[in-house]
Amino acid sequence: MKDCTQRIIAPSILAADWSQVANEAQRAKDAGGDWLHLDVMDGHFVDNISFGPTYVEAVRRTTDQYLDVHLMITRPDHFFPRFIKAGADNITVHVESDHDVASTLSGIRKAGCHCGLALSPDTPFEHMLPYLDQIDLLLVMTVRPGYGGQAFMDKETMPKVEQALAQREQLGLSYHIEVDGGIDIKTVQTAARHGANVMVAGTSLFSAPDMPAAVTAMRD
Ligand code: DX5
Ligand code: ZN
Repeated sequence: MKDCTQRIIAPSILAADWSQVANEAQRAKDAGGDWLHLDVMDGHFVDNISFGPTYVEAVRRTTDQYLDVHLMITRPDHFFPRFIKAGADNITVHVESDHDVASTLSGIRKAGCHCGLALSPDTPFEHMLPYLDQIDLLLVMTVRPGYGGQAFMDKETMPKVEQALAQREQLGLSYHIEVDGGIDIKTVQTAARHGANVMVAGTSLFSAPDMPAAVTAMRD
């Protein structure tokens, strides 16, 4: 497992061809992707429905890649055990969801899974402060969660990446700083410059004419 000083590229399955998911997972790996990012949406926390634990389990059977599961759902505390059982390596929950955040994070960790905490563009970074020593990954959403293919929200979100980095250094912690939404060859440099090391990218990678070249360009 890479540490928080290394760049990690996480292709997002949301933008893949779901009818060929085994091929798509392999394509992402062959292209040099480090993790696979899986977006779970419940039609309540966000205005879209994607897939649940059964699909994550199906993806798990196709690949040995690190599965980074992002729960955009109202009750992550109720559902996280099913995603652990499905084979998630990391589960990221939102600070805005309707749950006892500390208890959800410790439950995920106790089950032997890495845990992440996400914040949406409209949420102040201060909402994350009580939980920083309880996470393996901090996800700064760089679009409003719910859909792939949106534009990167530079001004609203890069100050939060900077805060995540400053707090990590000040507190001597080692969580990854992940960005998700509108990441391409250009915006990845902005995110990296501000302190992000895990780059989630859906549209820009799965629609690239040459996926290995796109992953390489994102890494350099
Ligand atoms: C958005 C999801 C993202 C999405 C990113 O709600 O959390 O992971 O797949 O897609 P792109 O890279 O297309 O913006
Ligand atoms: Zn995501």
